[in-house]
Amino acid sequence: MFMTTCPKIRIVWVLLCVLLLCRNLRASRPNIIFILADDLGWNDVGFHGSGQIPTPNIDALAFSGILLDNYYVTPICTPSRSALMTGKHPIHTGMQHGVLKGAEARGLPLQEKLLPEYLRDLGYRTHIVGKWHLGFYKKEYTPTYRGFESHVGFWTGRHDYNDHTAMESPYWGMDMRRGLQPAWDLHGKYSTDVFTSESVTLIKNHNTTEPLFLYVAHAAVHSGNPYNPLPVPDKEAARFTDISNYNRRRYAGILSKLDQSVGDIVEALRVKGILNNSIIIFSTDNGGPAAGFNLNAASNWPLRGVKNTLWEGGVRGAGLIWYPKFNQPGRVAKQMFHITDWLPTLLTAAGGDVSNLTMDGMSLWNSLEEDTASPRDTILHNIDDEYGNSAITVGKWKLVQGTTYEGTWDGWYGPSGEEWIYNIGAVIGSLVGRAVTALGLNLTSTNIRKLQREVQVNCIWQNRSSSNCNPLVSSCLFNIEDDPCEQNNVASQNPQIVEELRKQILRWNATAVPPGNLIWDPRADPALWDHTWNNFGDYSVEIQSAS
Ligand SMILES: *[C@@H]1O[C@H](CO)[C@@H](O)[C@H](O)[C@H]1NC(C)=O
Ligand SMILES: *[C@@H]1O[C@H](CO)[C@@H](O)[C@H](O)[C@H]1NC(C)=O
Ligand SMILES: *[C@@H]1O[C@H](CO)[C@@H](O)[C@H](O)[C@H]1NC(C)=O
Ligand SMILES: *[C@@H]1O[C@H](CO)[C@@H](O)[C@H](O)[C@H]1NC(C)=O
Ligand SMILES: *[C@@H]1O[C@H](CO)[C@@H](O)[C@H](O)[C@H]1NC(C)=O
Ligand SMILES: *[C@@H]1O[C@H](CO)[C@@H](O)[C@H](O)[C@H]1NC(C)=O
Repeated sequence: MFMTTCPKIRIVWVLLCVLLLCRNLRASRPNIIFILADDLGWNDVGFHGSGQIPTPNIDALAFSGILLDNYYVTPICTPSRSALMTGKHPIHTGMQHGVLKGAEARGLPLQEKLLPEYLRDLGYRTHIVGKWHLGFYKKEYTPTYRGFESHVGFWTGRHDYNDHTAMESPYWGMDMRRGLQPAWDLHGKYSTDVFTSESVTLIKNHNTTEPLFLYVAHAAVHSGNPYNPLPVPDKEAARFTDISNYNRRRYAGILSKLDQSVGDIVEALRVKGILNNSIIIFSTDNGGPAAGFNLNAASNWPLRGVKNTLWEGGVRGAGLIWYPKFNQPGRVAKQMFHITDWLPTLLTAAGGDVSNLTMDGMSLWNSLEEDTASPRDTILHNIDDEYGNSAITVGKWKLVQGTTYEGTWDGWYGPSGEEWIYNIGAVIGSLVGRAVTALGLNLTSTNIRKLQREVQVNCIWQNRSSSNCNPLVSSCLFNIEDDPCEQNNVASQNPQIVEELRKQILRWNATAVPPGNLIWDPRADPALWDHTWNNFGDYSVEIQSAS
């Protein structure tokens, strides 16, 4: 009907206008650069106050952006990455227990629509650099089949930063790829450098008529293989001879390379002329492996616990969001934010409509921008029936039921870094410091000191060897606002609150799907695949019975 009553010429005009409008919208959408550190502890970033390992570039983003102070991730790699990509809690995708091992024939379920796919719908160009860890046994599970146009990086949970092999005893194979192709040519090139130069090249070659989504998932600061757990260039380690603990010194060098990478990426955005329209997120994936956990040397001080525990040290994440167009950038956000919130939050920032999305994540874009209350007051940290633990925070109350390692990682693990003086000048003078100052942002020592005071964690007892909680005996309740270090179990004084939180965990549990973990598949053995971790499920192979 419309066709017959309307002259063709008008239709052409309408179409043209719609096209132009779409192009303009597309061009004005902000670029999104998501930098995910692996296993970085609460107290490893300088912006939480420690001067032991300088992270001036990361700190400059934090102090000129929004420092997320009430930010929670999940306790370990695969669940966190699944939550980031889907906006769903890992208990709803079967990714809640431990990590995905290289020899498991599973991946993040294919019916899930992922963040890059949503952003593609809005006209974004999408790239991932670095670690995937969401499945690869069939090619359909790998990044370039799941919304990303390109991938230079690795599929398993961690690799050696120089030879790029991943050891998951008894299996051992090379894990570094360009798309589906093994990247043998990168052998000997330090992973952090590989991912930085790939990111810089992608930014340099980006066509600015379209918005960019770049997901940089570093190997750093995860430990490598057992034969060289903390792979650091000698030159970097040598800068930290004042750190007497040998492993911590090597960790400092690895982290320092990560900080320089952040500087180089921001500088590339500046040179390209798109920093002023870019949102940058820097986040850890989970709490730090401290004191030899995973052969690593992170610090979650003064928070309790480590990676893969449900204590604050396992789940309260170091994170920030930076955007020069925020109202009053250079502030601390107290809004409760969960890693599942990134998907709807970033879609909102990109101009998408999230009103019909059904997922656990909530959009906090407006709350962050206007500094108004968070729509969220509850975070389920996890329900893991294999370990027999679960934890939930509702408002200021946190209930912890059971624990991960029979109680062996339930303490407080330093170092505090208190004896080091924080270098504010280095933050202002860093690559990022100069770039954000040139944009007119307020990166002054007065403001930095003010923000540092605001994010300081004050433990009520200041005594890391004491607590009246043993979750193997009974559930513990903490007032996280007053007792962020989880030292004072107040369960016996507040039985109704314990009961209410316990019920909430049961309600979540009723919606959970069972964990998808599988026993190892011998077809995965890299020895069968030219010594690479491969998409073994795409081929039929005869396995000789091992004798
Ligand atoms: C960038 O993309 C636009 C729109 O697709 C195109 O017209 C232009 O030629 C591209 N520029 C470059 C340098 O490729
Ligand atoms: C960002 O800066 C570039 C170059 O300096 C300028 O052309 C552009 O208009 C600016 N964009 C915004 C959104 O401010
Ligand atoms: C959301 O769902 C409602 C009800 O089904 C529908 O009317 C509306 O168009 C949907 N909005 C979007 C953006 O899809
Ligand atoms: C920068 O921050 C300081 C400290 O918060 C404040 O006093 C000052 O007014 C701010 N300057 C600008 C230009 O916003
Ligand atoms: C710390 O707690 C332990 C164990 O409860 C106790 O023995 C010790 O005296 C406390 N130290 C201080 C400085 O309060
Ligand atoms: C969750 O539900 C499963 C299956 O019904 C049950 O086996 C498990 O004990 C429940 N876990 C918790 C923490 O309630």
